[in-house]
Formats: sequence, structure tokens, C-alpha cells
Amino acid sequence: MTLKKNKLAFSLLTALFFSLPISQTFAHEHHCDIKETELGNTMKYIKSELRAYNKGFDSEDKAEMKEHAGELVKLTAKAETLIPASIAITNHAEKVEDLTAEQKAKFVQYQEEMSELNETFIALSETTDETEIETLLGKVKEHTKTGHQQFRLDCKK
Ligand code: HEM
Repeated sequence: MTLKKNKLAFSLLTALFFSLPISQTFAHEHHCDIKETELGNTMKYIKSELRAYNKGFDSEDKAEMKEHAGELVKLTAKAETLIPASIAITNHAEKVEDLTAEQKAKFVQYQEEMSELNETFIALSETTDETEIETLLGKVKEHTKTGHQQFRLDCKK
């Protein structure tokens, strides 16, 4: 009798587990349920503008380069005001005023890194010198790497 009951309970639990969408079943394990954020969307836009800039650079189209570098300056200035999900994860703070002192300190570090990227794009928007552009593009890569290592959530772990 007890065995039967246990079996029934097990089947019900299994059925419940499989009826839930996978994302919901594992949602809170690594906070990977945070998918769409304003910063994430801004990042996607930065990626496509950088690609467009590179295309202009490859075809020596100065007007295209100027346009996309200008857009990258604006986008990184905007990104500087947005709080990364990794910082606001514990209390889902949306405004700087809602951050704890520890979170605020991390946000300041994030802003410094983003501000350096913004300055790199300003420099990029002011030059057509090939060697200088290549150095600046190398800097962009570095900022992306360090910025992501420090502030982007790693959902793969
Ligand atoms: C040109 C340079 C960069 C490119 C192309 C880039 C690109 C991206 C992309 C494609 C994503 C994923 C967006 C999504 O799927 O939702 C992302 C996320 C993210 N990036 Fe960047 N990134 C750059 C620089 C940086 C820098 C310098 C930082 C930090 C100072 C940074 C911080 C982040 C953070 C925190 C996220 C996660 C979004 C969130 O927390 O809401 N990125 N980035």
C-alpha cells in the first residue's frame, strides 16, 4: 500500500516536472532567467554599429565611418547610465538611488570602464588615420573583454 502511494507520488512529481517549461524549472538556479535588459539591447546595437563601422573602414567609406562612430559614441554614453544585471541581481535595483553602497562602488567601476570605451569611440570618430584606427579598434576589443569578464553574467557556468 505505502509502496503504491510512493509510486503514485513519484509519478505525479515527474509529470509536474516535465509539464513545466525548462526555463521555469531551472529559472532561479543561476539567475539566467534575466534575458532582455535595456543594457543588453544597447549592447546588441553597439555590436551592429561596430560591424557597420568596420565595413566602412574596409571599403574606405569615410562618411559611413563617421556616421557609425558617432552612433557608437552616443550608445556608449547611454550604456554608462544603465545598471548591469550582475550588479543589481540581489535586489533588482533599477535606479542608482536604490543601490547599496557595495553595489554603487561596483557601478562606479563599471562606469569607468564604459567611459573609457566611450572615449575610444570619440577618438575613432575624430581620425581617418589607418594605423591609429587599428590601435583604437584593438582597445575596443580589450574593453569588451575586460568589461564582460567583470560585469556580464555568465549563464554557462
Ligand atoms: C564594443 C564593445 C562591446 C560589444 C560589441 C558588446 C556586446 C555585447 C553583447 C552582444 C551582449 C549580449 C546582449 C544580449 O544578448 O542581451 C553584451 C552584454 C553585456 N555587456 Fe557588452 N559589449 C561591449 C562592451 C562592453 C563593456 C566595455 C562593458 C562593461 C564595461 C560591457 C558590459 C556588458 C554587460 C554588463 C552585459 C550584460 C547585460 C546586462 O547586464 O543587462 N560590454 N555585450
